[in-house]
Amino acid sequence: MSKPSILVARAIFPEVLAQLQQVFDVDHNQDDVVMTHAELRARMQGKVGALTTGSERIDGPLLNACPGLKIVANMAVGYNNFDVDAMTKAGVLATNTPDVLTETTADFGFALLMATARRVTESEHYLRAGQWSKWSYDMFAGAEVHGSTVGIIGMGRIGQGIARRAAHGFGMQVLYHNRSRLAPELEAECKARYVDKGTLLREADHVVLVVPYSAASHHTIGAAELAQMKPTATLINIARGGIVDDAALAQALKDRRIAAAGLDVFEGEPKVHPDLLTVPNVVLTPHIASATIKTRMAMAQLAADNLMDYLLRGQTRTPINPEVLQ
Ligand code: GLV
Repeated sequence: MSKPSILVARAIFPEVLAQLQQVFDVDHNQDDVVMTHAELRARMQGKVGALTTGSERIDGPLLNACPGLKIVANMAVGYNNFDVDAMTKAGVLATNTPDVLTETTADFGFALLMATARRVTESEHYLRAGQWSKWSYDMFAGAEVHGSTVGIIGMGRIGQGIARRAAHGFGMQVLYHNRSRLAPELEAECKARYVDKGTLLREADHVVLVVPYSAASHHTIGAAELAQMKPTATLINIARGGIVDDAALAQALKDRRIAAAGLDVFEGEPKVHPDLLTVPNVVLTPHIASATIKTRMAMAQLAADNLMDYLLRGQTRTPINPEVLQ
C-alpha cells in the first residue's frame, strides 16, 4: 500500500525525519533551501500533510491549490505564518508546538535582558577591537537588573516564566499587561501586578515583549510608546518582528530616548533594519530564543507527532483550530 505523502518544508533533525520516512512518503528539504511562496505551493500539491517552520506562509491561494491537504504542523509556538481562518474553512488542521519551549524561551528572554542591561555584547566588541587599555570607574556601566522593575507585555506561558525568574530569582517588581488578567493565584505565584500599557511603559526599567503577532499587536511599540519609556529603560523583543516599529526603535536608540534594546526578532527578518546594525546600544540575535538542542528536538518531535497522530490515527495533540474535527 502506498504511504501518505507529506512535505517537510525545511531541514529538521535527521532522526525525526527518519521516523516520518517510515510511515510517510516524504518530500524533504534537508538542503534547507528557503522556498519562495510559489515553490512552496508547487511542492505542497498532492500532499496530505506538511511540517513547516514559522517562515512558510499558509494562506488561501496555497490552500486552494492543495485540495488534498489535511494538516500543517508548525514547528513553532507562534503561528502568524498561518491564515487560520482560511485553514479552518478549507478543513485543514493547524498545529503548533506550545509548552515544550516555554522555559527555554523564558531563559533566553532573561539572557537578552541581562546582556542588554549590562552591555555584554557592546563591551565584548570593544575588547575584541583591542580598545581596552585601562579600567575606569564608569566603563560600560549599565542598568541594574536585581531589584528593578520589569514590565511584561503578553503574559502567556513564556511571559509568566520570565515573571517567575524576575520575581523569585532577582527580587524584581513585576508589572504586566495582557489582553486579559491572570487568575489571582497565578498573579500571586508570578508576583505580578496588572497595569495598563501606559503605566507599564512609564514605570518599567525593562520592558519585555512576549505578545503573539497579529494585526492588533502590529507596532505595539512605536515612537509614541518609546517616548513614554524612561530614558534609562531597556526594551527586549523575543515575540515577533512587527511587534516593534524597528525604524522608530533605531531612531530612539540613536537619540538615547531609551538606554538600550535586545532584539531576537525583526520586521522582515532575516533582513534587519540597517540603522539597528550601526547603533551600539542594541543586542541583536538571529531568532534563537528556543534554540537549545533539547528544546528544538522536542519541537520537531511534537510537530512530527502531530502529523503522525492525525494522519495515521485521526488524533490530535496541539491543535490550533480543533473545530476542523467537528
Ligand atoms: C519561535 O519563534 C516560535 O514561535 O516557536
